[in-house]
Amino acid sequence: MNTHNIAVIAGDGIGKEVVPAAIACLERIAAIHSLGLNFTHLEWGSDHYKRHGRMMPADGLDQLAVHDAIFLGAVGDPEVPDTESLWGLLIPIRREFQQYVNLRPVKTLDGVASPLAAKNPIDLLIVRENNEGEYSEVGGRMYRGLPQESAVQETIFTRLGVSRVAHFAASLASARSGRLTSATKSNGIIHTMPFWDEVVEETVGGYPGVAVTHELVDALAAHLVLKPWTLDVVVASNLLGDILSDLGSAVTGSIGLAPSANLNPDGYYPSLFEPVHGSAPDIAGKGLANPVGQIWSGAMMLEHLGHSEAAAHLQAAFESALRDGHGTRDVGGTSSTSEFTAAVLAAIEALA
Ligand code: NAI
Ligand code: MG
Repeated sequence: MNTHNIAVIAGDGIGKEVVPAAIACLERIAAIHSLGLNFTHLEWGSDHYKRHGRMMPADGLDQLAVHDAIFLGAVGDPEVPDTESLWGLLIPIRREFQQYVNLRPVKTLDGVASPLAAKNPIDLLIVRENNEGEYSEVGGRMYRGLPQESAVQETIFTRLGVSRVAHFAASLASARSGRLTSATKSNGIIHTMPFWDEVVEETVGGYPGVAVTHELVDALAAHLVLKPWTLDVVVASNLLGDILSDLGSAVTGSIGLAPSANLNPDGYYPSLFEPVHGSAPDIAGKGLANPVGQIWSGAMMLEHLGHSEAAAHLQAAFESALRDGHGTRDVGGTSSTSEFTAAVLAAIEALA
């Protein structure tokens, strides 16, 4: 049996509802496909912060490093500053484990109406640079509380950082349509963004079947709303990719549907799989959370671990549950989290 050790961090809010839902599906899929998935549940997150003053133990990264993958729900709690929850867990994992690609599929699903009444099916991939760019630690704050109070935050792009994410995006594009769109803002941001454009252009030059279009991010945002079906692979910096992918998930019907993979493509470190959404404190504990983003992230994890057939089975199961009219409130349905999960489990059996 092919065994994988997976660290599970359900985290906060609806993470505690959608992670168990997805694990139930993954366990069934593992049994059917004879995969050994060993889940280690780690009680890290904002409750840990309230008790111990940190989101995870001091040796948290060492504990994670011995796993084959990390399966995360969401972190964030109204009583803990977001800077603590994000920089105390998710960002250190992404950086230390060199998860420099954040891959976010955007796809319409049968049974879920797009709020924009999309004329054509949408199936695109957003490749977000996940380690540097606008999310830098370089900067500072001066004259706190005085009239001249000021804040500076520098964007850092490195040739290594931009070229490796561009390589990843170009190779995805070459396996799909050959069309790659790079998000830029080189008209207004005159140092870093032209550098991004140059390095992307150079890198993509090494892929004869791939054509890159540089699109200003404001126009690209409009494009994503008006004609998303004309896009295939989109590569973007950390901040621009974050914004575009939330927009993309909204266009397909709900942020509760959107999955993501934080990948260390070199395989030196474990990769992390999590839905795009956060801990949704407004609906936490009510059984309203849509588990599709988490389940789909589980399918991406199976694919990453080399189990394409099991991944496709899980993908087909939640797509069929949605097509059959099951769905949580955010996609216009009436199912609770557990009712929807039961429908996915039934579809797993039906498709086995
Ligand atoms: P959010 O994604 O948690 O919620 C935004 C809206 O979408 C809310 O109305 C929520 O009810 C709804 N929603 C989200 N996921 C849903 C699901 N699965 N099913 C149904 N409805 C869903 O974003 P928000 O409110 O900006 O942030 C809440 C907390 O989550 C904050 O503390 C934030 O820092 C954190 N956060 C954490 C992330 C992570 O762990 N990767 C990512 C984004 C936010
Ligand atoms: Mg986000």
